[in-house]
Amino acid sequence: MTETTATSIWLFGYGSLIYKVDFPFLERRRARIHGWVRRFWQGSHDHRGTPEAPGRVVTLIADPDAVCTGMAYRVTPDVFAHLDHREKNGYTREASEFFFDDGSHTQGVVYVANPGNEAYLGPAGDDEIARHIARARGPSGENRDYLLALAAALRELGSDDAHVFGIERELHGMLQAAT
Ligand code: SIN
Repeated sequence: MTETTATSIWLFGYGSLIYKVDFPFLERRRARIHGWVRRFWQGSHDHRGTPEAPGRVVTLIADPDAVCTGMAYRVTPDVFAHLDHREKNGYTREASEFFFDDGSHTQGVVYVANPGNEAYLGPAGDDEIARHIARARGPSGENRDYLLALAAALRELGSDDAHVFGIERELHGMLQAAT
């Protein structure tokens, strides 16, 4: 079935799409995606930073052994007009398969910012990423709020994400040292 004829499509969210749900959905379920790892390697020119001083947000990086936990939403096709605009800074929609807690699975789409897009920043140490996030802000607010909201949402989902929690720990250390 193509997107234009489908009555609903599953979308997998692994970053702000977990905690900032500014779109209507028919159903929402915790899900996992295989072969991808969540990384703060994407620059943000339009939400948590600016073109001159980008913020850092998450993308998915291919890793055959990885499993990434997030939230899946069943949405009507018209919702993608809003989402494509929201995710326009380097993300493209990719087809993927998601797995639910009850063992069932479905085909759907996920926004991935691939290495090579103009806002891509790439790897850095947890401390460097935390320092970057601590100073960045953009039209959607402080970059640190993106990190803290994502970490809180992942805890709620029961996802033990060492990368996100490591950067959060570094950020807390920096904020404490600054007071
Ligand atoms: C997502 O949440 O699935 C994509 C990345 C983001 O918007 O933070």
